Amino acid sequence: MKLGGVDIKNRLMLAPMAGYTDAGFRHIAVRHGAGLTFSEMVSVKGLVYDAKKTKELLYTTAIESPCAVQLFGREPEIFYKAVQSPYLKKFDIIDVNMGCPVPKIVKNGEGSALLKDGELIKDIISAIRRGAPEKTVTVKIRSGYDKVNAVENAAAIEAAGAHAVAVHARLREQYYGGAADINVIKEVKAAVGIPVAGNGDVKGYDDYRRMRETTNCDFVMIGRAAVGNPYIFSDICRRTEAEDGGANSTEPPPSKRADITLHFEILLEYCDERVAVNNIKKHIAAYSKGMKNARAVKDAVMAAASAKEIRDIVDGFF
Ligand SMILES: Cc1cc2nc3c(=O)[nH]c(=O)nc-3n(C[C@H](O)[C@H](O)[C@H](O)COP(=O)(O)O)c2cc1C
Repeated sequence: MKLGGVDIKNRLMLAPMAGYTDAGFRHIAVRHGAGLTFSEMVSVKGLVYDAKKTKELLYTTAIESPCAVQLFGREPEIFYKAVQSPYLKKFDIIDVNMGCPVPKIVKNGEGSALLKDGELIKDIISAIRRGAPEKTVTVKIRSGYDKVNAVENAAAIEAAGAHAVAVHARLREQYYGGAADINVIKEVKAAVGIPVAGNGDVKGYDDYRRMRETTNCDFVMIGRAAVGNPYIFSDICRRTEAEDGGANSTEPPPSKRADITLHFEILLEYCDERVAVNNIKKHIAAYSKGMKNARAVKDAVMAAASAKEIRDIVDGFF
């Protein structure tokens, strides 16, 4: 599958999720078949004025190839400068966040606030294309801010030179609640010529099929259902292999214990022990979901304060 100038091995994307899609988790998602992953959102101002702060968010492992960074901001000229940062050199794809609903972001006119201003959307994308003409540029939008306008926004995104658009089929007002209306994705796909990724509430193979068949989208992006369950990608890959020609491994899958251990060891490569320990806790709680002793795992992990304790818990329970 082509995305701008980049080859993606299948139609499956791991959605960007601040606080969750750290480099360790993205590594495990790719290991289990995700064709493309995105960094957590990174401030363009942070990149331009205080790049050190964003360093942890920009860490990647070699398995993430191609790799995508998600940027958020508002001013086109700051996007223009940010995309020329040496810290972004390794990224094949620059994605722009136009969906974040949280007040802290929206009140600065960033994230989903951009959905109200088609001209500004165009200016941001043009600035990125000028600043980094060699990069593939993608945009992640919602159905709209307080009313549906995804078709108009996607048309503006295409006209300004972006290579693909991902649509989370909810309004900003809905945050993550209520059902996603995937008909909006269908309308966007019918209206633009660039590839479209459908996003919202895909929890397994049946939802994946429904998303593809209802909307005709090119890619399916999965967020919450992959947390603690990167196996959602291998499961969908296996079941779609014949239809989509996905490049899937025939090797036996690694155990959950091996996955969690690797996830944590990658965090330790680039975070302080204290930060790595804190970050892995919610993941381990999610990995334990559905296990008989999930409660005990959660209690133990929440009390852990060192890498050794985390390793002992993983070895003891998984
Ligand atoms: C905890 C959390 C953090 C998120 N962070 C981001 C983000 O940084 N950038 C972004 O574009 N979307 C973000 N999202 C939205 C997801 O990418 C996705 O659009 C949304 O969760 C719907 O997909 P899902 O139903 O598969 O989870 C976040 C969602 C969650 C739950």
